[in-house]
Amino acid sequence: MEKKRFYITTPIYYPSGNAHIGHAYCTTLCDVFARYKRMRHFETFFLTGTDEHGLKIEKNAKAAGKDPQTYVDEIVAKFKDLWRVMEISNDDFIRTTDPKHIAVVQKVFSHMIKNDDVYLGSYKGWYCIPCESFWTDTQVGENHLCPDCGREVVKEEEPCLFFKTQKYLPELNTFFDKEKSVYPIGRKNEMINNFIKPGLEDLCVSRTSFKWGVPINEYEGHVSYVWVDALFNYVSALNYLTDDDSLYKKFWESEESEIIHVIGADITRFHTIYWPEFLTSMGLRLPDRVFVHGLLMMKDGKMSKSKGNVVSPYPLIERYGVDALRYYLTREIIFGNDGQFTPEQFIDRINMDLVNNYGNLVSRTISMIEKYFDGVIPSYLKDINEQDNEIDSLIKLTIDKYISELDDLKITEGFIDVMNLISRANKYIEETTPWALAKDESKKENLKSVLAHLARVLFVSTKLLEPVLVKKVKEVYEELNLTNEEADFDNILNEHLLDNKKVKKGAILFPRLDVNKEVEYVKSLMTNK
Ligand code: ME8
Repeated sequence: MEKKRFYITTPIYYPSGNAHIGHAYCTTLCDVFARYKRMRHFETFFLTGTDEHGLKIEKNAKAAGKDPQTYVDEIVAKFKDLWRVMEISNDDFIRTTDPKHIAVVQKVFSHMIKNDDVYLGSYKGWYCIPCESFWTDTQVGENHLCPDCGREVVKEEEPCLFFKTQKYLPELNTFFDKEKSVYPIGRKNEMINNFIKPGLEDLCVSRTSFKWGVPINEYEGHVSYVWVDALFNYVSALNYLTDDDSLYKKFWESEESEIIHVIGADITRFHTIYWPEFLTSMGLRLPDRVFVHGLLMMKDGKMSKSKGNVVSPYPLIERYGVDALRYYLTREIIFGNDGQFTPEQFIDRINMDLVNNYGNLVSRTISMIEKYFDGVIPSYLKDINEQDNEIDSLIKLTIDKYISELDDLKITEGFIDVMNLISRANKYIEETTPWALAKDESKKENLKSVLAHLARVLFVSTKLLEPVLVKKVKEVYEELNLTNEEADFDNILNEHLLDNKKVKKGAILFPRLDVNKEVEYVKSLMTNK
């Protein structure tokens, strides 16, 4: 059954370096889903934020000669600015240094202590500071490398609280038994085979060797392990455990809300094993889906400052526009798979889909309506030209497929379908040759039908592209002379929406890119860093 509310979250990022295109990737995809659901009139809440405690931040701040709060404040401002520039429509931005979040983490510990879910012990093992994760001797191997990121781990020995992971194993198994709770399936199997089947070890949930964390009231000198602190952002942002918890009730507690966490593959274990266990300990419902997206890699592997291959989104947005970058991120990398950023593919994708396909359909359709009908869109006719029925059915099929694909988080597929509809319409122009029909008075009806069909494809495809091309679609609605109300998603099946509308030609939507010149430009961004 379709749920009427939608809650989607990004991971909360560490403000330990500047946001790069990898962060932009995940945030953009969540934004597209949120905008898609809002467009379909679902009550939607979209959350992002920053994860500001922990050893890594404390160390980075020290190295920068700043106190941790000043250090994170500066970087958080940059994350917020990037989301503004990228037209990210988050409903809130949670910071784990927000007092309301800190209060939740403290109450969570009080509950876990009372509930006998944690016990005092002593940790002896390995720790990866960049990942903020604990590892055993076997996991780090002889070279003492983090199994997740491959970097060197450090030895830690300190008193801490342990969470009893076996206690909630039955509930965890039920969560894993649900078909799409962890998706794609490969990620689910990885968790089962690598962590659940070998037997979960109890998790160290407090730290005593440094200070930059949420203090646990009951145990002096203990601060929350950063991952317990971080995961509870998803409910603290909704005012969980406050007097005014209506958002929490609406978007988390209520079964009418679909809860989706979108995360990168690097943090699957925390979101699919520990988070469901923590929630169960608190007596809370579990998310419907944890969707694991792949990582955006560079030709020479992972993005890293030391390799000098980190791409900043800013110059790309400045030169190609925010819609082009949003489209590239949504379309180029199949959601769920790893992808590679290359300057060639970036430029080609914009040229192929936005310039040659979509932009071309916009400009040809509007120009021909102006030329042959003084700018007035002819009434929608059916079955006049040989191909009309096919175009008609493809429009309906594309809408249906797009909805079911986006509802199932198959975002890349959804936008490929829209581009296919646009390609088919461009081919329809070649097949029906409107310029020839215009010369023959007896073919007037044929010409009318071609342009009415093209205008309809233009509206439908623009509507379906709206969650991604947030700026350019407005220009197209203006060209089609549609008000916001008229351009509402609920009108997408109305075949006569555009009848007799007077179009207005606008500026070129996406100027053609000179491949060689632009590839060189993007390359220069990657090596200049
Ligand atoms: O892990 N390609 O924060 P983080 C695609 N604070 N996505 C990428 C990426 C890349 N190259 N690099 C990063 C943390 N990401 C924790 C999360 S949540 C309660 C706490 C994205 O700053 C991807 O979604 O290291 C990944 O999971 C996330 O950024 C990690 O961000």
